[in-house]
Amino acid sequence: MEKTKRVIGVKIIRLDEVDSTNEYAKAIAHEVPEGTVVVAKRQVAGKGRKGRSWASPEGGLWMSVILKPPRVDPRLAFVGALAVGDTLADFGISVGIKWPNDVWVGGRKISGILAEGKAGEYSILGIGLNVNNPIPEELRENAVSMMELLGSKLPLEEVLKRLLLHLDGWYRVFLERPDLLMAKVRERTFILGRPVTVIEGDERISGIALDVLDDGSLLMDIDGQLRRILYGDVSLRFF
Ligand code: ATP
Ligand code: BTN
Repeated sequence: MEKTKRVIGVKIIRLDEVDSTNEYAKAIAHEVPEGTVVVAKRQVAGKGRKGRSWASPEGGLWMSVILKPPRVDPRLAFVGALAVGDTLADFGISVGIKWPNDVWVGGRKISGILAEGKAGEYSILGIGLNVNNPIPEELRENAVSMMELLGSKLPLEEVLKRLLLHLDGWYRVFLERPDLLMAKVRERTFILGRPVTVIEGDERISGIALDVLDDGSLLMDIDGQLRRILYGDVSLRFF
């Protein structure tokens, strides 16, 4: 059987410190091959969605993959979430996807994904994974690291290696069989069937999360009315 060539991790750029690997990746996207990875020991301006900040001290895995898919597609974030889930499973940690962009373990966030893209140019898949890094005091209630869960330090390089392998596999599925990608997302999304609150600007909409649709949006039942919530528009609470 013909072996398919790996895309993700063809080139790895390692930095000690950067503002945000996503910003760095955007700046070099036009001059590097698809699959180039930017990884930094620490970020001084790591970011989540809507400009929120992402704590990125040394010890964690802070990285961005430069991709050039045929079109910018919000479902790319799920490639990250599934690959992080498989990587954690390799280390004995079982996780759930909190739609649209977080990976949770037992009610706490262990990883966040930030996918950004510019039509016709690039897509950036940014992944933050708490590995051996300390979690800032103010986030302790809602965030956790692999080290805390397993009780000892993890080999960061091995975690990166596993993650790149899984990313490569899921990226291929994303390109060739997005329906299969979404089926797996549905399977791992733990909020389905549960009451959730969607926060959209100043509005709070409460209902039951019913399904993740093939386009990546969340289908909710709000007092008997069905409503589709698009990725990127909202934050979600399930408590
Ligand atoms: P939330 O994570 O609050 O459900 P969200 O996923 O929509 O919401 P984002 O803007 O995507 O939020 O992520 C940024 C949030 O992640 C910050 O507001 C902070 O609460 C949290 N956070 C920041 N750094 C970390 C970290 N290293 N580990 C876990 N959570 C973090
Ligand atoms: C989220 O808030 O859930 C998304 C967080 C994404 C954090 C990662 S860390 C590597 C990359 N660089 C950034 O500035 N953000 C992403």
